[in-house]
Amino acid sequence: MEVVILASYDEVSRAAAREVARVLSTKPNAVLGLATGSTPLGLYRELVRMHRDEGLDFSQVTTFNLDEYVGLPPNHPQSYHVFMHEHLFQHVNVAAQNIFIPSGAPANISAYCAWYERQIQERGGIDLQILGIGADGHVAFNEPGSSLASRTRIKTLARQTIEDNARFFERREDVPAYAITMGVGTILEARELLLCANGRNKARAVALAIEGPVTAMVTASALQMHRQAKVLLDQEAAGELKMREHFDWIEECRAGALGAQLGTEQ
Ligand code: PGA
Repeated sequence: MEVVILASYDEVSRAAAREVARVLSTKPNAVLGLATGSTPLGLYRELVRMHRDEGLDFSQVTTFNLDEYVGLPPNHPQSYHVFMHEHLFQHVNVAAQNIFIPSGAPANISAYCAWYERQIQERGGIDLQILGIGADGHVAFNEPGSSLASRTRIKTLARQTIEDNARFFERREDVPAYAITMGVGTILEARELLLCANGRNKARAVALAIEGPVTAMVTASALQMHRQAKVLLDQEAAGELKMREHFDWIEECRAGALGAQLGTEQ
């Protein structure tokens, strides 16, 4: 795992956008795994800017979102469908037929989840998966206790997640209790993972995910099992890392001449 500690949230966002642009420069028809929440807002802002000012092209790109709340219609203001259109899709040239976001109201949930998994396979698998991390250490809505081999399915949100996400809703009671989410196993099959985190309220989860044991109690710790996982942190999110000096040293060396020859496999 490559851990990069940057000065600010803006730097995290710009570095994440450069990773996306790097993938698209070698594979214009890449499959991107996308996340919602506050964390990727800066990344999407930067991608929109790069599309506008630098011609970053999404015309051949396919996207798969990690999750969606169960019970919210796609036009609900807090649905992840609306979030993605507002913050990314309406500003860039991804083709509508190449956008996949789990439905929040499938007629048959397990058949729908199997279909979603098949779409990922049929599009060739995810090249780069963007991830945030919950204060309880989740990736997507894989709450503590989720199998590290799990696939797309319905999950009950943890109380902590409902509290955390209540800020987006008028009332806490309005936060859905269930979500359809890619599983940890689904996420681990992406060719590259990019987890971003900012802010002090993520510091504990980040430290557990990076430095703790691999455990279903902190599903982000499964990134330790991936060959090409990168974590971008701002200073606050890195605040509880015990190996902070080590990570800084590795990045310093990577930035040097030898680092350029080493490649990115971790
Ligand atoms: P946030 O959520 O980006 O809104 O903090 C991240 C997550 O819960 O995965």
